[in-house]
Amino acid sequence: MSMHRTAFLLAALALTPIPALAAPTSEPMHFTSQQVELPGSDRVFPDGPGAEVVNNNCLACHSAGMVLTQPRLSKAQWTETVNKMVHVYKAPVDQADVQAIVDYLAALKPQP
Ligand code: HEC
Repeated sequence: MSMHRTAFLLAALALTPIPALAAPTSEPMHFTSQQVELPGSDRVFPDGPGAEVVNNNCLACHSAGMVLTQPRLSKAQWTETVNKMVHVYKAPVDQADVQAIVDYLAALKPQP
């Protein structure tokens, strides 16, 4: 009788999930991309008209910081830069989005 009871207890223990250990295996891991806005973060571009198109087109190869640390540029200069990304570095930017990107970047740091 006591042998059976011990066996039952051991089985019950073995089947009792320890929450901290069971959690990672009982649920599949999900990786979701999230945009977390931290003060001073240069992971994404600051909000504004066109920010989404810039975030979608300009973060594949380098950080937003690469762009945000540039000096003030005119729209013509930003157009050149965007064209360079497209033609030299093969950035897959839809031509229809170029104007919105240039407008956004020029508005971000307007020329004095
Ligand atoms: C396909 C990859 C790729 C994409 C997408 C991309 N870039 Fe770049 N970008 C580069 C590379 C490569 C450099 C050069 C890095 C270096 O010099 O270390 C660069 C550098 C830059 C620089 C630094 C100045 C310069 O002329 O080198 C700016 C500004 C810039 N990118 C803006 C943008 C903007 C705006 C977009 C979105 C339209 C964009 N990039 C998308 C690859 C890319």
